[in-house]
Amino acid sequence: MNPDSNLDNILAASAHRNPYPFYAALAAGPALVFDAPRKLWIASSAAGVKAVLGNPACRVRPVSEPVPSAIVGSAAGEVFGHLVRMNEGLRHDAPKLALQRFLAAVDLDRVQARTEVLALQAAGEGVLRREALSRWAFEVPVMAVADLLGFGEDELPQVARWMADFVACLSPLSTPAQLAAAGNAASALLGRFAELVQAASAQPGSALARLQQEAAQVGWHDARALLCNAVGLLSQTYEATAGLIGNSITALATQPGLLDAMAREPGQLLQMVHEVSRYDPSIHNTRRFVDQPTEVAGVSLQAGDVVLVLLAAAGRDPACNPRSDEFLLERPDREVPGFGHGAHQCPGQALACTVAAAAVRALLVSGHLKDAASFSWHYRPSMNARIPVFIA
Ligand code: HEM
Repeated sequence: MNPDSNLDNILAASAHRNPYPFYAALAAGPALVFDAPRKLWIASSAAGVKAVLGNPACRVRPVSEPVPSAIVGSAAGEVFGHLVRMNEGLRHDAPKLALQRFLAAVDLDRVQARTEVLALQAAGEGVLRREALSRWAFEVPVMAVADLLGFGEDELPQVARWMADFVACLSPLSTPAQLAAAGNAASALLGRFAELVQAASAQPGSALARLQQEAAQVGWHDARALLCNAVGLLSQTYEATAGLIGNSITALATQPGLLDAMAREPGQLLQMVHEVSRYDPSIHNTRRFVDQPTEVAGVSLQAGDVVLVLLAAAGRDPACNPRSDEFLLERPDREVPGFGHGAHQCPGQALACTVAAAAVRALLVSGHLKDAASFSWHYRPSMNARIPVFIA
C-alpha cells in the first residue's frame, strides 16, 4: 500500500516501528476503502472513523457470534458476554451510564497518590532492568484500578496474574491451555468480586458501593452482569494502559528535550500523557460489524460487512488535530480518537491518563528513566494494540 513504509498488512501496523506515514496515506484517500485480500472495509480519516462509530448499523459484535466461540460456556465467555463494550441496546445503555457516572466521580488525586506508591513498590529497590520494565507497565495500572475497587494490597499481584491469564483468551490465536487458564482466572475474579460487592454494602463510601448505587439509579438490576463489568474494568485497563505507559516512555526517549522538560516539571506529565494518547496511542483500531444495509460516507455497506476502524490514523488527521504530526504539550481542543467515539466511547480516559502519568512520574523522580534516551524496544505482536517491549 505504501512502499516507503515497508508495511503491506494493515493488521501489522500497530506493532510497526512507524506506521504513521502509512496511516496518513490512507487517511488522505477515500473515507472507506475495501481491502479485498482481508475482506475488510477500512476507515482511517477522522470523518470516516466518526461516521462508522456513529452509525447504529455498525455493531460491536457480529450478530452470529456475540461471544467468541472459543470461550462460549466458560466463565471467560460469561464475562465477555456481559461487557457493555460487547453489547448494544438494553445490555449496553443503562450499564454504560452507571459505569460512566461511577468513573466520573472517582477521586483522581487519590488514584494518583496510590498509583505512585504502587509503582515504586513494584519497581523495587535498585535499578529496574529494561526487561522488567514492560512487565511493570502491565502490573501497575491493573493494581491501581484493583486498589481503587477495594482489593487489599496483598492481593494486588494475584489480581495482575489473573488479568494476564484472562486477557490471553481474547486473541484468535489463543491455545487450549490459555483458554483454560483464562476461564479459571475469570472464575476466580468473579468469585472475589462477589465477596467484595457483598462487603461493600456495609461500607457506604467504598467504590463498589458507589458502583452499586449508580447501577440501582439507572435501573440496572442484573447483579451478575455488574460483577462481569467489574472484571471488565480491570481487563479494559490492562493492555491499553500498559501501552499508554510504554508509549509515554518511548516519547521521553525520542521527543527532543521532552525528558529534560519533564524532569524539571513533572507536574506536566499529565499533559504529556494526553498528547501521547493522541500522537502514539495504545489502541490503534477497533472493528464494527454491519447488521443491516447502510451507507457510510456515500459508500453502501451490506449486512455481514466488517469495518476496521483506524483510531490511530484519525488522531493524526490534520482535519481533527492541526499540526497533527507534531508532539505538542499544549494543544487546545485536542481530539483523541484512540479512546473511541460515539456510544461506545471509553469512560475510563481520565482514569487511564491519571494512572499512566502517576506511574511514569514515579519512575522519573526515582531516577529510573535518566537513561531513557538509550532505551531500545520493539513492539508486542498484536493486531490492535501498540505496546513496547523494552530490551536490554
Ligand atoms: C490507555 C488506556 C485506555 C484506552 C486507550 C482505552 C480505549 C478504549 C476504546 C477505544 C474503547 C471503545 C472501543 C470501541 O468503540 O470499539 C473503550 C471502551 C471502554 N473502555 Fe477504555 N481504554 C483505556 C482504559 C480504560 C480504563 C482504565 C477503563 C476503566 C477502568 C476503561 C473502560 C472502558 C469501558 C467500560 C469501555 C466500553 C464502553 C462502551 O462500550 O460503551 N478503559 N476504551
